[in-house]
Amino acid sequence: MAGISFLDEHRTWVLTGETSTYALRLGEDDVPVHVYWGPALPATAVVELIGKTLPWWDGFNDPGEGVDELAADGGTRYWTPALQVRFADGTRALEWRYESHHIAAGHLRLSFADRHYPLRITLHYRLRGDVLERWTELSAGTDVEVVRADSATWALPIFEDYRLSHVTGRWAAETRLQRGFAHHGETVFASRRGITGHHANPWVMVDDGTATERHGEVYGVALAWSGSWRLTTTRASTGRLTVSGGFGQDGVVHRVGPGRPLTTPVSAGLYTAGGFGAASRAWHAYVRAHVLPHPGELRPVLYNSWEATGFDVTEAGQLALAERAAALGVELFVMDDGWFGARTGDHAGLGDWHVNRSRFPDGLKPLVDAVHGLGMQFGIWVEPEMVNPDSDLYRAHPDWVLHHPHRRRSELQRQLVLNFARPDVAAWAHEWLDRLAGTADFLKWDMNRPFSEAGWPGEADQDRLWVDHTRAVYALLDRLRADHPGLRIESCAGGGGRIDLGVLARTDQVWTSDNTDALDRLRIQHGYGQLYPARAMSAWVTDNPNFVTARSIPLGFRFHVAMAGVLGLGGDIVQWSEDDLALARELVARYKNIRAVVQHGALYRLRPPVDDGVTAVQYVLADRAVVFAYRQSAHFNAPERPLRLDGLDPAAKYLDPDSGRTHSGAVLLAHGLPLDLPAGDFASVVIRLDRIKI
Ligand code: DGJ
Repeated sequence: MAGISFLDEHRTWVLTGETSTYALRLGEDDVPVHVYWGPALPATAVVELIGKTLPWWDGFNDPGEGVDELAADGGTRYWTPALQVRFADGTRALEWRYESHHIAAGHLRLSFADRHYPLRITLHYRLRGDVLERWTELSAGTDVEVVRADSATWALPIFEDYRLSHVTGRWAAETRLQRGFAHHGETVFASRRGITGHHANPWVMVDDGTATERHGEVYGVALAWSGSWRLTTTRASTGRLTVSGGFGQDGVVHRVGPGRPLTTPVSAGLYTAGGFGAASRAWHAYVRAHVLPHPGELRPVLYNSWEATGFDVTEAGQLALAERAAALGVELFVMDDGWFGARTGDHAGLGDWHVNRSRFPDGLKPLVDAVHGLGMQFGIWVEPEMVNPDSDLYRAHPDWVLHHPHRRRSELQRQLVLNFARPDVAAWAHEWLDRLAGTADFLKWDMNRPFSEAGWPGEADQDRLWVDHTRAVYALLDRLRADHPGLRIESCAGGGGRIDLGVLARTDQVWTSDNTDALDRLRIQHGYGQLYPARAMSAWVTDNPNFVTARSIPLGFRFHVAMAGVLGLGGDIVQWSEDDLALARELVARYKNIRAVVQHGALYRLRPPVDDGVTAVQYVLADRAVVFAYRQSAHFNAPERPLRLDGLDPAAKYLDPDSGRTHSGAVLLAHGLPLDLPAGDFASVVIRLDRIKI
């Protein structure tokens, strides 16, 4: 039965989700150690596993190797440290003393103290369906330096082999799925940039090398944090693999002391059977039910002006786009960069958040009113954490940016990073954002460069800015949302540089990538969707040739790719031909018909992105399914395989309301759906299937 039980005589806690169980216990020396993680087991069966640690037969290993719940440095522990402390007298080792536990509403708190020093450690475990959320809290009566404080260490079962899945990327090429066998020793996935990053994303999935899309056991660990982070997989010759991770920056120390506790972000762990597909669906269900602030909502179709206008923003130009957008069925009109200060290019004005009066002589109101009058919501672009050196803000407050007094201030994208850990900077940002949130229904919150010279002259504990900057951004987002309940927010960092479970808890969608090329997007969306749901995946249809890649792709294909997420339009629609406008109108309407299935349904990846062949995904929600199939290039007289579907009822019949054809669920699952893709390159279809009610 789902819930948490305590086996007193074994000093063991058993946490059972819908289909999985996790168990830990206290060792003789009070160290919390791992017992079990895997398919659901009754507590009575878990008891059989207790104390089955390896005999201590050599003098070079600790018998607890690799099973610590939070591998603490010191004594005979040589594993990758998850918790490393330095007490004032130079002592580095930690010795656990168990104090108490507390269980309430699926949340287990285990309280410990150090045996000698006034340091308290609380380990948190919270069940969210099958996802187990874990985090660590530290508090101290005297000053302690915490060199590393991971949220959790996750011990995997002993497998014959271990394979890791994760994503890598770069700007405009985010979330590329990688899958390969785990090296012995330590593999570190990390961001040292102060933001989540484009080059990696804070999650890893582990299987024994045999899992497929539809079969096999998959373990996943993800971190809810938008600053610097690291996840370390450790594979030892003794057979185990652990994943330990949390926030943190190499060389940066957390100073914990009286009145200065430290709470780590959540590390979420998930065990699933049923392959990578089932793992992703379980993660999506978790994000929709427990992470996103308004999970039940359907995200509107938006228009964004960036690719159409760049920095050449004018009231008349935005109005013309808004009129076109409304006529196409757009529900949310977003004006991007270039509306404020002297921001007529990327060289100036960032930080001066007052409307540019030469572009908007009467302020924003006429445009906002017009957009509302057209029946759309109004959204606006902001980049609160940044400043151009050529700005009034920087001239007035050069000390507000991250800097070291005797070091150059490295510019990237001609901008510097404001130190949001400073209360005066955070208060300034709140003041203007709060005002803007009174006008706009939606903010696109951008962040276009990583940290550098992350100093804070005059502050005794400069290291804290690495955590406190992110915390301040979170606090600001939380406050704006609380004060403006209708406000919705998109997270963006030069495309997908800030996508993680932490930011998803306080935003409504994410800008997946600055690359809107539909072909590249198939790969980006494939990687994104391993962990994150379509409900938050913003995807625009833009122009030919593409703004970033210069590739031209037919409009229908571009739409079909974007319709597999939260559809948006981002092209210069004023220039579109009548034919394109007519097709766009039709496809926006079609998207509205299927969007509940896409945004709230279960994702089945039927065929992964391939250069030569068909890529396909399917969404299923209750009695409805939608299939998206894409073929990049056609070869003459090449046979086309039927597409085997998933997630349907084999006993039911399904109607394709567009063709009028009916199919039996059993045939669609066992044999497949004939795709009848149109001839030529860049062919795509969207097929609806509705269960026929008998
Ligand atoms: C980067 C974003 O990812 C783009 O969509 C756009 O908003 C630009 N910044 C504007 O400067």
